[in-house]
Amino acid sequence: MRGDRVARQDEAVPAELHPFVLHFAAALLIAGPACDAAGLVLRRDALLQAGRWNTLIGTVALGVSVLTGIAARAALGPHSAAGEAMLNLHDALGYVLLGLWVPAAVWRAFSRIALPQRLRTLYLALAFAGATACLAETLLGSAMVYRHGVGLSPAARAEPIPRPPTLTGPPRANGSR
Ligand code: HEM
Repeated sequence: MRGDRVARQDEAVPAELHPFVLHFAAALLIAGPACDAAGLVLRRDALLQAGRWNTLIGTVALGVSVLTGIAARAALGPHSAAGEAMLNLHDALGYVLLGLWVPAAVWRAFSRIALPQRLRTLYLALAFAGATACLAETLLGSAMVYRHGVGLSPAARAEPIPRPPTLTGPPRANGSR
């Protein structure tokens, strides 16, 4: 039964690979369009080249993020209904991201110049939509883990202890982070 799974540390693909890889995808695919926009405004070819490489490497990282996400999902233990609903949305948005970024990366890979001249507005619309979707995907993933506990090990949930007082003061009464 799915709910009986406890030994996450023994998975063939550790669930922790997903958070490790996805940060590269998120950073590069947000920095890519930002470099392109700065390159166009400042007329700097070097920035357009940076935009191209961020896009290409970021899309590879995105593909690996989706694969590790699928592996992480397969290793999940029990979680709340709200967490499951968010996970379904997170999953679907992962494929939307691939649909936006793979064509953009292919376009960029086969372009002779750093940023294609033809249909440039369309390219930028695609890339900015992709960056926005990437931001939404990471916010959703974070809320899913940190607010709804999806992916936490049984040990992390079993016996929470109150946070000891720190330099910033005692823990808040309602127990939130
Ligand atoms: C279909 C694809 C995906 C699936 C099935 C998936 C699944 C998951 C799962 C199960 C978790 C819970 C944590 C874990 O067990 O590792 C998670 C967390 C997360 N995911 Fe995904 N994911 C996918 C794609 C993506 C993509 C493309 C991104 C961003 C580029 C992303 C961003 C995140 C973030 C930010 C977290 C929170 C991680 C943390 O800070 O600990 N995911 N995802």
